Amino acid sequence: MAGSKTLEHEILLRKAVLKIPSSNFGVFSLYKYPAKFTPQVPAFVMENYAKKGMKVFDPFAGFGTVGYTARVYGLEYELWDLNPLLEYFHSLCEMEPKPLDKSLVDKIKAHPQEFIPDWSNLEYWHPVEFISLLSKAWGFYHQAADEYTKKLLLVPLLKLTKYFSYADEKVHKLYKSKYTHVG
Ligand SMILES: C[S@@+](CC[C@H](N)C(=O)[O-])C[C@H]1O[C@@H](n2cnc3c(N)ncnc32)[C@H](O)[C@@H]1O
Repeated sequence: MAGSKTLEHEILLRKAVLKIPSSNFGVFSLYKYPAKFTPQVPAFVMENYAKKGMKVFDPFAGFGTVGYTARVYGLEYELWDLNPLLEYFHSLCEMEPKPLDKSLVDKIKAHPQEFIPDWSNLEYWHPVEFISLLSKAWGFYHQAADEYTKKLLLVPLLKLTKYFSYADEKVHKLYKSKYTHVG
């Protein structure tokens, strides 16, 4: 536009915020949700434009990065998502630390009942050799764990379930790898 001047400069958002020293800081690295924000992106907006008393709203919150960033900046927030996991992830971020039950792994191993999800094609997603191990761990989660232990176990169990599946480790979505060859 005639007479106007545009000032442009490149910035590296990862280095442009004061309160989030790395993308793995705190709860941000808890779970590799598909297409998760780099936390410094919402942090840059909050650090530079948010005013005290403002509320942040993310209607497609996914893992909840925008909300956890808002906590760092002392802002109120509201998160929505179709995926019910958001509520679990968020509750982990509010957990009070407690001493660890060192016998937890032994309790899981000794748990007698399995939990088998009501899917017709379980063996499509997981090699049959691992289904018993996974079902035992999820059996403990659903049948024996108290609420606090459930929160502790959810992310490790989700990771374990993905690890022993036909998905490629580096892809964050649930899918069956094209490199899988079965029977
Ligand atoms: C790219 S992810 C968002 C990731 C998020 N920015 C983070 O940092 O974790 C998009 C999210 O939109 C959600 N979504 C898609 N359609 C939706 C709808 N109609 N209502 C609510 N959530 C929806 C999906 O479940 C998914 O979690």
